[in-house]
This record gives sequence, C-alpha cells and structure tokens, in this order.
Amino acid sequence: MRSIAITVNGVRRELDVEPRQLLVYALREQLGLTGTNVGCDTTTCGACTVHLDGESVKSCTVLAVQADGREVTTIEGLQSNGDLHEMQRAFHENHALQCGYCTPGMIMAATSLLKEHPDPSDEEIRYGLEGNLCRCTGYHNIVKAVQAVAGA
Ligand code: FES
Ligand code: FES
Repeated sequence: MRSIAITVNGVRRELDVEPRQLLVYALREQLGLTGTNVGCDTTTCGACTVHLDGESVKSCTVLAVQADGREVTTIEGLQSNGDLHEMQRAFHENHALQCGYCTPGMIMAATSLLKEHPDPSDEEIRYGLEGNLCRCTGYHNIVKAVQAVAGA
C-alpha cells in the first residue's frame, strides 16, 4: 500500500491505495464521490472524466498514485455554495441528458473544452467531446448546452 494525499474538490484527502488502484475507484469507493461514473474501464466512454490540475482526464486511465500531491475536481466540486455550475444548469435547461449516465463526464469535459476554446464552433464542440460517448445518443442537445454556456 502507498499513502497519498490528493486535494479533491478543494479539500486535502489522505488515503492508502494499492499502486495498481485506478483514480476512479479511489474517488468512488474510498472517498464516496460516486458522481464520477464507470462506463467501460478501458478509456473509451469518458463517463469517468474528472479534472486533474485543471485538465480533463479519464480517471479510469490514471492511477491514484499519479494524482498524489495534485488537485482533482469531480462533478461534485463544480457547484459553489449549493448553486449549480453554469454548465450543469445549461444541461438541465437544454434537456442535454436522458439516462444521465454520461452526464457528469460530459459536463467535466465540456467545462474543460470551454476553458481552452471559449467560443467554439459546433464542429469544435463535437470534436472536443468526441472522447465522451452518450449511449442515449443525446448529442444534439449536449452541443446546444455547451453553445448556451459559450454564448453567455
Ligand atoms: S470508464 Fe473511463 S473512459 Fe469509460
Ligand atoms: S444520457 Fe444516457 S448515456 Fe448519455
């Protein structure tokens, strides 16, 4: 076991992990942050997307030990003082979710995309989110939600 410390959603968390432990399972099972979903476990679907030092990563592709000393933001950390993040609101207002399974990862990827491209075209949004799959195929409204935040 290795002792590591990760700042998760602004709070320093210390935990003991096996070196092979994936970050997504440390978040879900050790820290109880179940908003980050596991869809494939093989870097395909993006359901597990979180921010690592401000950049979106698939947390099933990162070892927990690789996050030692770094900052992680999960979907739970996007709200502030109980108010939804504008991207969370936009997904809600634009009906950008059906079953909701892909939604946390989509939102984390979308916020990261807008940080890099504040005014993306439709095509850039689709390209930027290509690593996130929606099994309900709700892509049209997801793009609309991201456009709404970019436009605001
Ligand atoms: S669970 Fe990580 S990419 Fe699918
Ligand atoms: S809303 Fe169901 S997987 Fe995307």
